[in-house]
Amino acid sequence: MKLLICGGAGYVGSHMVRYLVERRHDVVVYDDLSTGHRASVPDEVTFVHGDIGDAGKLGRVFAGHRFDAVMHFCARSLVGESVVDPYVYYQNNIGNTLVLLAAMNQAGVDKLVFSSTAAVFGHPHGETIDESHPTEPINPYGQSKLMVEKVLADAARAYGLRSVALRYFNAAGADPSATIGEAHDPETHLIPNVLKAVLGQGGGLKVFGTDYDTRDGTCVRDYVHVNDLASAHLLAIEYLAKHEGAFRFNLGNGSGFSVKEVIAAAERVTGRPVPHEFAPRRPGDPATLVASSHQAREKLGWKPAVDVLDDILSSAWRWHLEPRY
Ligand code: UFG
Repeated sequence: MKLLICGGAGYVGSHMVRYLVERRHDVVVYDDLSTGHRASVPDEVTFVHGDIGDAGKLGRVFAGHRFDAVMHFCARSLVGESVVDPYVYYQNNIGNTLVLLAAMNQAGVDKLVFSSTAAVFGHPHGETIDESHPTEPINPYGQSKLMVEKVLADAARAYGLRSVALRYFNAAGADPSATIGEAHDPETHLIPNVLKAVLGQGGGLKVFGTDYDTRDGTCVRDYVHVNDLASAHLLAIEYLAKHEGAFRFNLGNGSGFSVKEVIAAAERVTGRPVPHEFAPRRPGDPATLVASSHQAREKLGWKPAVDVLDDILSSAWRWHLEPRY
């Protein structure tokens, strides 16, 4: 298959590219490198430096290749930043996505896998979140992703666009090669911050909130290995070959771990202490987010390969010991 990977230099996108190249798919990466890393894309992959909001450049890429499908990983994705600067989020995540969708339509490419998020749900109503859970985002980041999901439903009806929106819970870990991994600047995610604290980097770990209504007072999340997210994307393309419409699937392992449990697991995996201090709650954090991925398992045939927290952490640890970028 020939695929356009928008945002293929980012954390999840670069793992996707690696996964596809290993399976001998033909890949073109399109990325503006605003948060991604050129070094995370293998040399043999065609790389186009561009912004998906640039209709002219995107049009030339579509004119130069016959893509079977597009995977769209480009986004601003920091919840806190989205509250402070919502215009940037709506412009980037919705406005620029519309430019991409129009270019696909123009080029006659009718299959898309879109990176969505657990943030479309807002505060959970029960123990686990399945696809029938109400979508009530509590921040502009979640709103922007939900809005695109709605656009995709309309596009299925109007233009026959086939799409799958994959709502990631907490993407984590790194490729076993340890050549690519999670490297954001600034880093806001728990697992990289825990591992940096072990290495004495990053100015010390803060545990945000110890008074949540959870088993130990800290927030509970569902960590899913980044290569398992990649496998779901390829299964989604295969699903779209057989099904018309706009589909949405939740991706998580179905088990929640508290911040304190992640710290304990990191101490087991690294054999070193995780220096940390307790701090007030971070605004916008729900107490618990755990997925039901029953639909993805049943309809896509998805089965996470790395579903043990310690294994996810050790893959991340191997990367953090020697990051390449
Ligand atoms: N946390 C800390 N210290 C840190 C970083 C995080 O205590 O240095 C805590 C957070 O407060 C939260 C948990 O660790 O309770 C996980 O935080 P992350 O930032 O790693 O991940 P989030 O759950 O906030 O973010 C994820 C996705 C987002 C999505 C969001 C929905 O990464 O894309 O869930 O709430 F929007």
